[in-house]
Amino acid sequence: MVARIINGKQRAASLRQEIAIGVEHLRAQRGITPKLVAILVGDDPASALYVRRKGEQAASVGMHSESHQLGSDISQARLLALIETLNRDEAVHGILVQLPLPPHIDKAAVLRSIDPAKDIDGFHPVNVGMLASDSEAASDRIVPCTPMGCMMLLADEIASLEGLAAVVVGCSNIVGRPMAQLLLQARCTVSIAHIHTRNLPDLIARADILVSAAGAPGLIRGSWIKPGSVVIDVGINRVPGEAGQGARIVGDVCFEEARMRASAITPVPGGVGPMTIACLLENTLRAAIAQTALQGSARFRSARSSDPA
Ligand code: GUN
Repeated sequence: MVARIINGKQRAASLRQEIAIGVEHLRAQRGITPKLVAILVGDDPASALYVRRKGEQAASVGMHSESHQLGSDISQARLLALIETLNRDEAVHGILVQLPLPPHIDKAAVLRSIDPAKDIDGFHPVNVGMLASDSEAASDRIVPCTPMGCMMLLADEIASLEGLAAVVVGCSNIVGRPMAQLLLQARCTVSIAHIHTRNLPDLIARADILVSAAGAPGLIRGSWIKPGSVVIDVGINRVPGEAGQGARIVGDVCFEEARMRASAITPVPGGVGPMTIACLLENTLRAAIAQTALQGSARFRSARSSDPA
């Protein structure tokens, strides 16, 4: 079997089109334009690039955006004061603090300080708890962006996830844990593998769905993969190129091997990566709708071509 290559770039572009329609309807009906504010602490080039892309893509769907670039020596008190100002600003619908933060800043305290209704990353404990709770309505939840994007790609490939065996490799707060919760809600039988997991190949051999977010280049060999499974590779790993070539980006899964066994697989780059920012925009739109009490409006909902996740 040769796997279908899942085109995350194309899927993200179509999601952005849907979001742009939603943004325009919100503006036309309520005179409200969703606004996303990103806070970057320090000058890490990769983080700066991500924040710039978030702003550019927000503008591309008609949203307002703003970024605050703070020195790496900023005090925690000043950062919290900025977040408090943004929490109170009714024109701001989504706030994100780009991670990682410098070591002198208490990440948990910062994430807790963001108004849960504006927490478009879904990292606030209230949103983490709602995701983990079976009793919360799906529409009330803000779901972390990368797992949300993975679920959209899976939904395109598999009509019903019910009863399938899913293995998530990695247990980070950003990807692995929320991913496992979403798969559980979709009624998969979920296993979470991590650095202490014994016999990873045997676990992966039973997976109908494999999501890898380990950040370990080439960790997963093609021979481990269950034939016909769907493989979602979240890893974005920079490795040295071949002789005379620059660095290249690879996933956690040995792509060429895995594509000979899986039924569908995301490439790196061009798979999950493009979905993350698109889902951040989706969360910003949802947050703006919720904050303007439009969420229940049938008219507004029917105006959007679909309601992902
Ligand atoms: N750093 C790496 N991924 C993310 C993300 O999804 N959100 C934020 N805020 N920071 C990150």
